[in-house]
Amino acid sequence: SPAAPEFIREEAEVHLFVPGNSSQAVRELLQTHGVTHAVMLANTKELIEMQTRNASTDPRSGMSYYEKYHSLEDIYHWLNKTAMENPDRIKVILIGSSFEKRPLYVLKLSAISTTNTNKKAIWLDCGIHAREWIAPAFCLWFVQYSLSFYESNRDIATILDNMDVYVLPVMNPDGYKYTWTTDRMWRKNRSTREDSRCAGVDLNRNFDANWCTEGASHHPCSEIFCGEFPESEPEASAVASFLRRNKEAVALYVTIHSYSQMLLFPYSCTRDLTENHAELLSMAKEAAQKIKRYYRNNYKYGAGAETIYLAPGGSDDWAYKLGIKYSFTFELQDRGRYGFLLPPSEIPRACNEALIALKTIALRVVERIPPPA
Ligand code: ARG
Ligand code: ZN
Repeated sequence: SPAAPEFIREEAEVHLFVPGNSSQAVRELLQTHGVTHAVMLANTKELIEMQTRNASTDPRSGMSYYEKYHSLEDIYHWLNKTAMENPDRIKVILIGSSFEKRPLYVLKLSAISTTNTNKKAIWLDCGIHAREWIAPAFCLWFVQYSLSFYESNRDIATILDNMDVYVLPVMNPDGYKYTWTTDRMWRKNRSTREDSRCAGVDLNRNFDANWCTEGASHHPCSEIFCGEFPESEPEASAVASFLRRNKEAVALYVTIHSYSQMLLFPYSCTRDLTENHAELLSMAKEAAQKIKRYYRNNYKYGAGAETIYLAPGGSDDWAYKLGIKYSFTFELQDRGRYGFLLPPSEIPRACNEALIALKTIALRVVERIPPPA
């Protein structure tokens, strides 16, 4: 952190992932240049192994399926099983495929029977960045929670009675797979091109919102490579096309990232404020206060450009410009102690925090939905 060296600011923390054999050299360099530093995690190999061990359900361990990280194959399996077991509440929609031709499945969650003719929808995507494993874990957590508590939790019932929820659990399946097999710290997708040996486009720089201006890069080797043109990547294009087709219905767009504990809203692609800035700010503030009250954890909130950095081409800004006036990026736990390597034991709390934020915001959106004419 930050995602690319361009974003390093004076007086701000920087987190480095250093290969074991160069850690001494890096420490000496920091020392010589008088940079304050500390080792955050001495042995990441062990942590990574812990996160991938018995990923599929081990009936002997007390932990539930949702308190672990899962391989891509596991998640596809879960998706099928969950849809088959809940035929009246879940529809599976294929919205496209990844660069390496993996399917992009969206789960449509609906309340069983409502007479509501003016039903709006929430879009929720997870795992746009490969290494942010808590994100897909949250999408699974959310689906499970919605199915289990529709009958008993008034908030989730209110939300689902008024809105369907489209859930894309893994927006970047190729990248996610790659973090399980080859490089745990991979961020981008896995698209390749003739003119470079570097793979991958940052999918959250590939949308058509001030595309590739300050805060993104034209270099294929950069972590924030914006791609050849807006929506050049099949994953971004699939999501954008789906939202264009469904923009009348989708009233709330939420995309899940990690780490840093923030509730962000547009814009990130310009320092300008949106027309409903005050409203978005008050929703994010209320959500952050709820997290604080229930879980004693602090989340920053605000427009992306002023809260983290200028980052054009993001999905949240694009969705906003499409007309989805309630658009948020959640950055889940933690604040850097484990970073992307958040241990599975932290999944429940991280997800519950995101859940309460999502419920708070969704309820506010429900209140604003105009009654059918
Ligand atoms: N950490 C995220 C990223 O760099 C922040 C996303 C905020 N929104 C945005 N449109 N940049 O992609
Ligand atoms: Zn991210």
